[in-house]
Amino acid sequence: MIRLGLFLLALSATSALSAPPEPGEAPLTIVIHGGAGALERGRYTPSEEAAYKSKLSEALDTGYAVLESGGAALDAVEAAIVVMENSPLFNAGKGAVFTREGENELDASIMDGRTKAAGAVAGVTHIKNPIRLARAVMERSPHVMMIGKGAEEFAKEQGLEFVKRSYFRTEARWKAYKSAVEKEKSEKRGDKESGLPHDFKYGTVGVVALDANGDLAAGTSTGGMTLKRYGRVGDAPIIGAGTFADNNSCAVSSTGWGEYFIRLTIARDICAQVEYAGKTVAEAANNVIHERLQESGGDGGVIVLGRNGDYVMEFNSAGMFRGVRQGEVKEVAIYRD
Ligand code: GLY
Repeated sequence: MIRLGLFLLALSATSALSAPPEPGEAPLTIVIHGGAGALERGRYTPSEEAAYKSKLSEALDTGYAVLESGGAALDAVEAAIVVMENSPLFNAGKGAVFTREGENELDASIMDGRTKAAGAVAGVTHIKNPIRLARAVMERSPHVMMIGKGAEEFAKEQGLEFVKRSYFRTEARWKAYKSAVEKEKSEKRGDKESGLPHDFKYGTVGVVALDANGDLAAGTSTGGMTLKRYGRVGDAPIIGAGTFADNNSCAVSSTGWGEYFIRLTIARDICAQVEYAGKTVAEAANNVIHERLQESGGDGGVIVLGRNGDYVMEFNSAGMFRGVRQGEVKEVAIYRD
């Protein structure tokens, strides 16, 4: 019996440590999300659904074109996220949610699975594309994370594009902010619970990609949570919570209630289960989202991509804006179909 146990253990360790595919063996793949949340069918009109799907599709095609032309997974991740940051539809870049003070504060991170290098920014207010700044932190500074004014000072030195704060504002997000303020007043909730109306937390964007060299990368960008205050930072810029990539295991980008994703180190946990327990990306994501996150009371979702091209888009919320392109396979979806 003990021998059988040891044999099975050795077998699963072998599968966890099996040789990575040779460059070009695994299919070029890009997987994206545009946020998870209370996305019940019927929430959007057919034309709104079409607009979301079309932007998701554009982001997928933009990232996939980078991979097809021999570009790095890191470049594909950045390019696809920029498309979503520039769209008013998502809670990242233009279209970010509002803080309690009625401002926009943005967080982002990126990680290279080949080198395990990572970069992140939090609480930036004038950078058009925070994902580009996160990458600059990774590649052109000795640091992993920069915040607020210091991050923007660095952005100036690096020649990144600045915008007025008003650039990020959209009428839809402003209305949602006003209604969240009213709702909170009418419910007379205290500071501890404030800023957390269930429907106002989501819309983060994220991308994971696998390139022709067999390298993985992941990135995430967000405006955070409506009514956030005190310089609140969510999971999106936290390496291991919102973003993680390692060629030895997988690449992950998270979306959801950031406080839970930070406490559970969601992205790292999924990759650790793949690396050390020999789980498939589907098994690891299933455990982390439907057991650990669910049991802790949090909600949201992840996109996960393994070094063999296995991928999963898993969430415990009603829906998640998401999409994948892998060779001839191309899908975009919103609801739990
Ligand atoms: N998941 C985004 C945030 O909580 O800020």
